[in-house]
Amino acid sequence: MSNNPNTSMPLKQVLECLKGAANLPFDQAVPVPAALNHSRAFLQHESEKIFTQEWICVCREDEVSKSGDFITHEIAEVPVIVVCQKNGKVSAFVNACAHRFACLVPREKGSAKKFTCRYHGWTYDNAGQLIGAPNMEMKSGFDKSQHRLRPLQLDIWEGFVYVSLAEKPSTRLNDVLAPFQESVVGRYDMAGYQTLIRETMVWNANWKNLIENFTESYHVPVAHGKTFAQHNKPLEDYICGEDSHYYGYHRAPQPLETGPGAAHPNNHRLKGEWRRMMIDFCIYPCHLVTLMPDYLWYITVQPAGTDQMRATWGVAFPPEVLEDIAPDRLESWLEEFKGYIDVANDEDKILVEALHSGSRSPILPTGTYHPIERNLWQFNNYLAKKCCG
Ligand code: FES
Ligand SMILES: [Fe+2]
Repeated sequence: MSNNPNTSMPLKQVLECLKGAANLPFDQAVPVPAALNHSRAFLQHESEKIFTQEWICVCREDEVSKSGDFITHEIAEVPVIVVCQKNGKVSAFVNACAHRFACLVPREKGSAKKFTCRYHGWTYDNAGQLIGAPNMEMKSGFDKSQHRLRPLQLDIWEGFVYVSLAEKPSTRLNDVLAPFQESVVGRYDMAGYQTLIRETMVWNANWKNLIENFTESYHVPVAHGKTFAQHNKPLEDYICGEDSHYYGYHRAPQPLETGPGAAHPNNHRLKGEWRRMMIDFCIYPCHLVTLMPDYLWYITVQPAGTDQMRATWGVAFPPEVLEDIAPDRLESWLEEFKGYIDVANDEDKILVEALHSGSRSPILPTGTYHPIERNLWQFNNYLAKKCCG
C-alpha cells in the first residue's frame, strides 16, 4: 500500500483541500489540490456525487438516428446502451440482460432490430421489452412483460445525447444550459452538424486532467505547433465566459475570415466576428467541445481508476462544408481530418499524462493560474459544490 499522501489522503481532508481551493477568489486561486486527482477515497466519492447523479454525454443524436442504431457506453461502472426505437425516439437502458444480468450488447456501436442475449437466448426489442425467453413456459406464471431492460433517464441538448443514472435527475439540461445556448452557442446550430468520426482512447491520467487541459488555451501556442497553434491567435484575444455551476467556456476569434476555422460562404447562420469564432466549452462534468464555424470536436471522458481515463471523441461538420466534398473524396478527406485531430491528441496526451505524473509528488510548490485559465477555477468550484455539500 502506498504511503503517498496524495493517494491515501482520507476523504475528509481531500474535501477540506478542495473547499479551501474553491473558496479563494480567482486572482488568488491556485491549482486543484493534487490529492483530488490521486486519492482513491475521492475517486469513490466523485463517482457517487457526480457520475451517478449528473447528465453524462454518450453520443450525438445523429449517431443513433435510424431505427435500431445503438451505441454502448459506461457510466460509473454501469454498462449503458442508447438505442433508436421504431418511432425515432432515442432511449437508454442498462446494458445487462434481465435474466441473470449478462452484458447484453458487447459491441460499441451498430444497428439491430432486436437484441438476443448470448447466454440463454432472451431477446429484447428496441424499446427494451422482452419478446423471447426460450423454454420459460416451463416456469408457471412467468410473465414476459414483467422482465424488461432497466430504462435510464435520457436528455438531448443541441444534438448531444446525455444519460443520467439518477431516477430523478435534479436538472433539465435545456433549462440550465439556456443562458449559454441563447447567448453563445445557439447561433451555430450544432444539432445540424453531421457526425462522421468516432474513436475511443485510453490515457494514463485522471479524467479531470483532461478536463483541465481542454478548458485552457494557455498551452496552445507552446504545445500545439503542428495543429491549433497555426491559427496564431494572440492570448490577449481569449475571453473566458461567465461563472456557472453547469458549464464553463472560453472563446477567441481566428485571425482569418476565410479558410480553416472560418465559416463557409454558404453558412448564413453566423454573423460578424462569430463567423471565425472558436469556442472551447465543458458541459459539467465531463463533456468537452471545441466548436468552430466549420466543424465541432467533442469528447466525453470517463474515469478508469485514479490514474487512467477513457475518452470517446467524435467530429461533426456543418452541411455546407460537407456539400463541398465530392462523394468519392469524402473518405480520404475524413482520413486527413482525423489525422489532424490524432496529431492534436498526441500533442495533448504527453501533457495530460505529465500533469498526472508530476502532481503525484507529495511535495509541490503552490502553483498559480494565468488569467485565461479561469475555466479551471470554475471547474474546481463545480467540483466543490457537488462533492463538499
Ligand atoms: S443472462 Fe441473458 S438470457 Fe440468461
Ligand atoms: Fe491541447
